Amino acid sequence: MKDIQARVNELHQLLHQYNYEYHVQDNPSVPDSEYDQLLHELIDIEAKHPEFKTSDSPTVRVGGEAQSSFEKKRHDTPMLSLSNAFNEADLRRFDQRVRDAVGPVEYMCELKIDGLAVSLKYVEGKFVQGLTRGDGTTGEDITENLKTIQAIPLTLKTPISFEVRGEAYMPRKSFLKLNELKEKRDEQPFANPRNAAAGSLRQLDSKLAAQRKLDVFIYSINDLTELDATSQSEALDQLDDLGFKTNHNREKVKDIEGVLDYIERWTKQREHLSYDIDGIVIKVNALDYQEEMGFTQKSPRWAIAYKFPAEEVVSQLHDIELSIGRTGVVTPTAILEPVRVAGTTVSRASLHNEDLIHEKDIRIGDHVVVKKAGDIIPEVVRVILDRRPSDAKPYHMPTHCPSCDHELVRIEGEVALRCINPKCQAQLVEGLIHFVSRQAMNIDGLGTKIIEQLYHYDLIKDVADIFYLTKEDLLPLERMGEKKAQNLLDAIEKSKQQSLEHLLFGLGIRHLGAKASQVIAEKYETMDRLFTVTEDELVEIYDVGEKLAQSLITYLENDDIKRLIEKLKSQNVNMTFKGEKLSDIEGHPEFNGKTIVLTGKLQQMTRSEASNWLKQQGAKVTSSVTKSTDLVIAGEDAGSKLTKAQSLGTEVWDEAQFIEKQSEINKQGV
Ligand code: IVH
Repeated sequence: MKDIQARVNELHQLLHQYNYEYHVQDNPSVPDSEYDQLLHELIDIEAKHPEFKTSDSPTVRVGGEAQSSFEKKRHDTPMLSLSNAFNEADLRRFDQRVRDAVGPVEYMCELKIDGLAVSLKYVEGKFVQGLTRGDGTTGEDITENLKTIQAIPLTLKTPISFEVRGEAYMPRKSFLKLNELKEKRDEQPFANPRNAAAGSLRQLDSKLAAQRKLDVFIYSINDLTELDATSQSEALDQLDDLGFKTNHNREKVKDIEGVLDYIERWTKQREHLSYDIDGIVIKVNALDYQEEMGFTQKSPRWAIAYKFPAEEVVSQLHDIELSIGRTGVVTPTAILEPVRVAGTTVSRASLHNEDLIHEKDIRIGDHVVVKKAGDIIPEVVRVILDRRPSDAKPYHMPTHCPSCDHELVRIEGEVALRCINPKCQAQLVEGLIHFVSRQAMNIDGLGTKIIEQLYHYDLIKDVADIFYLTKEDLLPLERMGEKKAQNLLDAIEKSKQQSLEHLLFGLGIRHLGAKASQVIAEKYETMDRLFTVTEDELVEIYDVGEKLAQSLITYLENDDIKRLIEKLKSQNVNMTFKGEKLSDIEGHPEFNGKTIVLTGKLQQMTRSEASNWLKQQGAKVTSSVTKSTDLVIAGEDAGSKLTKAQSLGTEVWDEAQFIEKQSEINKQGV
């Protein structure tokens, strides 16, 4: 036994040493094969003699038992964030504030690693707990996953007790490999290394996390009294000595000019790094000055993060494709030569409308500058005229709908072109999808794929046809089994009981959102009564404007619609208001109690539709971004609210992410 213990100790020591040389110093002294051989020897010993397995054994790097959830833990001291600077003026103002407070200072410039903040706790030199940032006060315990990051020392060279903080990230190479693998497996690839790192750290199975090849840079020590450093630069050097991996591209500079020079150099060099950075962090170097300046509620006064401007890259416009929404709006989309921008590959960008295409003089074949607004939404910024090919083709929106060939119209006062053919296929399919969505008839399980198939097999042509479906109709569809078909039929049957406002909303009447549907259904109570109201009566209702009143009356006067309603009635679809108040509707945990801001132009729905939906999920929708905003949903051309959200570090979703979440929730039918 003694011999085994001695060998285990020896293996620990060797493996820790080799690991450190390889992953921290980037300077291995033995070939990989030797490391692997020793590691396997240790794995074998631990398998035969589990009593020798310790929590800091090098074998924990390969991951352990899967967990069912992550425990929430409070941070000893809150994990704050940094205030942001976007340009030279912001930086000079920061410098002025510093000099006003403590006089001229040296600054430490560091790369701002684009990953996830983590805090690592050591007790007597042993790594005991690793947390995510969470909301800054409480994080999630991801110790087991962090142990799989080889650059995180499990045992320090000195038995010291303290907490360090740093950024866990996924190197570009690991990211590309991971996405290749995901694509091969037909899985959705990660959008960027940051998301991939976040996803990996949230793996409940640490064996899977271990395969993800994450890395870390440590940038601060929580309790500086444990070290005898007098500056950030000394603290980082001492972290190196203890066995941590710090980023060596840091530089101490003597004033703000030095900071600007460092930023200029790294703006150019960042693309050559093996990991993503999203800015530069500037810190007052001397610790006593840091202490003198202190903190605001959310960030230190002695540091600032300079954020790189949205990356602009050149691509070529191969084509312009059109998509047709439920209301017939035809939106042009740029089909681009795929390019990497701000961490993801972009091959499409909305061009919004024809006016914009002409304003920017965008022609098919052009070389164009592409960026992501707010690093999220792809956008064509401008054309590079010098590189315009001689055969570049000016673009004109078609005069007829690409789906049904009906003439397109431009409604007065709107920039968008619309197909106004009520029988347009593309619109009908979108309309069917809308009809079954949660806020409307809420037919669980009837997704886009199924609707498209049913439409193309001529099984549903209007919304009423849904109620005529039989099992024989459903069974031949792709991936449809007996059970799924029955569930679907049950869901269709159940939806017949929906209160009138859901049916009204589901019909997709222009300008009629969920809120107005509720108000109108509450007031008139039955569909029959609704057929008798006049425009004048309608506009008297608060929440109902002239446009809506007009559109509703025109809709109800249409003979096709009258027949459609009769068809629905004959299938026993409920046509009465059942008294469900908006406030009675249960929220969804994802949004319940959250404060959300909508900004920019949404393509697939109006902002008020989005807002009503969010309110139904229990969210509070507000108009300005503040500290207490939980989420910002940013459509196209989002401006200052998006910038503000970014500077506050607020979570931001684009419309696609929102719609994805919406349909997920709609499908759950909570
Ligand atoms: S210092 C009080 N240094 O940037 C916070 N942060 O809001 C002190 N980050 O998520 C942070 N690289 O995790 C610091 N060299 C660096 C950094 C860095 C990346 C992250 C940090 C946080 C965000 C700042």
